[in-house]
Amino acid sequence: MKLYKDVKEVLYSADEIAQKVKEIGKKITEDYQGKELLLVCTLRGASIFFSDLVRNIDLDIKIDFIATTSYGASTKTSGEVKLTKDLNTPIVGKHVIIVEDIVDSGLTLKYVKRMLEARDPASVKICSILDKPSGRRTELTADYYGFVVPDVFIVGYGLDYAERYRQLPDICVLDPKVYTK
Ligand code: IMP
Ligand code: MG
Repeated sequence: MKLYKDVKEVLYSADEIAQKVKEIGKKITEDYQGKELLLVCTLRGASIFFSDLVRNIDLDIKIDFIATTSYGASTKTSGEVKLTKDLNTPIVGKHVIIVEDIVDSGLTLKYVKRMLEARDPASVKICSILDKPSGRRTELTADYYGFVVPDVFIVGYGLDYAERYRQLPDICVLDPKVYTK
């Protein structure tokens, strides 16, 4: 794929990701036996992880989508989170897992989790394919996560820089030359 010219390093290959997603799906399958589970995809970054994950969960689940925005064309969070698309489903009494691409500052998920908890669900947990603990600006940890990444800007497997690179099959470090002009 031509987009690899802007990639500095591949951190996790498509094969390693597939193996990890399988493990997370198995864990969720074990943890939610006999429970009514709704998986919530946070658009757009988590969409690719989400579609892989749900196919690795052997339970009678339902899915829904929300969208938030905070970044714009920048590599650092503005700290301001806005909900641009809400759930279509009521979640009262249901077990919910919010599925994310990466927990960086944690501000997006803190906001989304609080908002969903206010609707009286049975539980709200967080599942993220990536965790970037160095960026954290609030106390928040994912209940399920795939890989811990260092303080670098990641693209691929759904993650973008200015809406580009989402379709890269691997989890990659973006070459800083792309955003430091
Ligand atoms: P937060 O800082 O935890 O609120 O992260 C919010 C969103 O920022 C994530 O869902 C990603 O979409 C985006 N983000 C954070 N770090 C990265 C990165 O390294 N690459 C691409 N997107 C990122
Ligand atoms: Mg994003």
